[in-house]
Amino acid sequence: MVKYRGSSLMRTSSTTKFLSRMKSLKKIALHVVVLLAFSILVFVFKTQSILEEVLLLSRSQESESESQHLQASVGKLWDAPFSNGLHPCIKLSAKYEVMPSALGSNRFLTVRSNGGLNQMRAGISDMVAVAHIMNATLVIPQMDKRSFWQDSSTFSDIFDELHFITTLQGDVRIVKELPKDLESIPRVRKHFTSWSGMGYYKEMTQLWKDYQVIHVPKSDSRLANNDLPPDIQRLRCRAMYHALRFSAPIESLGKKLVERLRSHRGRYIALHLRYEKDMLAFTGCTYGLTDSESEELRIMRKNTNHWKVKQINSTEQRRGGFCPLTPKEAAIFLQALGYPPSTLIYIAAGDIYGGDAHLLELMSRFPNLVLKVDQFVYGSMGVSKYSNVLKSTTRCLLS
Ligand SMILES: *[C@@H]1O[C@H](CO)[C@@H](O)[C@H](O)[C@H]1NC(C)=O
Ligand SMILES: *[C@@H]1O[C@H](CO)[C@@H](O)[C@H](O)[C@H]1NC(C)=O
Repeated sequence: MVKYRGSSLMRTSSTTKFLSRMKSLKKIALHVVVLLAFSILVFVFKTQSILEEVLLLSRSQESESESQHLQASVGKLWDAPFSNGLHPCIKLSAKYEVMPSALGSNRFLTVRSNGGLNQMRAGISDMVAVAHIMNATLVIPQMDKRSFWQDSSTFSDIFDELHFITTLQGDVRIVKELPKDLESIPRVRKHFTSWSGMGYYKEMTQLWKDYQVIHVPKSDSRLANNDLPPDIQRLRCRAMYHALRFSAPIESLGKKLVERLRSHRGRYIALHLRYEKDMLAFTGCTYGLTDSESEELRIMRKNTNHWKVKQINSTEQRRGGFCPLTPKEAAIFLQALGYPPSTLIYIAAGDIYGGDAHLLELMSRFPNLVLKVDQFVYGSMGVSKYSNVLKSTTRCLLS
């Protein structure tokens, strides 16, 4: 035992030494471990924050480049489209025969324009060219007062008449009215065949042998692209884009509208949403409309004499791509082009058929809608068709 003790004592003393050394070693180790752990912790923490920073940085760079990309592409959306090198060309060639003012003085072309304003502008430009080809004096055209729009405006209400006459004085003689002495003489009514070329109108000059006045009851003769000489095409462009200037009240009203729209945020889309009653009735497109709305359109089509096609299968019409975009489709289209939801959209068209429900589909994607006048909201469809939501969220430009 003693021995053991002794030895144990001895052992004890050596053990004690060993133990105390161990203890200090342990202490050191512990310190090291704690230090290590701490440094690991610091490291992990640091790394994490570094990682986070890196992540944040890359994320912000990503979002920055994303927003830059978005900005660039949105910026591009507002740029003028690439012109493919095309430019306005209304200057005359040396070959162009300037009309001496005496020419055509005793032959007159009277015209009744037809259709909406756009169609009438194109038709009037064509008639300027026809009068030039046929050596006729053009009488200021009558406007269509019987179309869907029921607009009683005369030519001079809509266009600057004097500007029209003087701009084209080297091309065609234009007078405000048929001379009094010619009013009662027999005149020939001539529906010019649409899409005719130069030869046709030269042939038509044979009519001058028997008549002094040709009356054209429809102006949409669609002169475009029939191998007309370039100078005649240029004349059509001059008539359309230079001679047919809006009258002063329309010009100033237009400027006012643009100024008010620009005052919101500078850029806006003027959307001619042709989802109007006459267009839907004419094309027979009833997709998404109620049965009673479809029926109303069918009756309108049936009762409009000059709309030749009476029976239309709406499904086939839509499949063929012959239908105007619904407000929802227009919204999806603009969205796909990249316009952000904040884009200001001015509805340039008339009453949207189907009222609220359809306009709200556009509004849910583009809430910043602007309408022309109160009349649109309280329009011909009656107040009830437009909800209070629409009335309070849309802005009226002219109220
Ligand atoms: C129009 O008048 C010009 C000049 O007199 C003449 O050369 C031209 O043949 C006439 N055009 C027609 C279609 O009669
Ligand atoms: C319209 O056309 C579609 C597709 O061709 C057809 O399924 C449908 O029966 C047609 N409707 C009528 C009323 O003829």
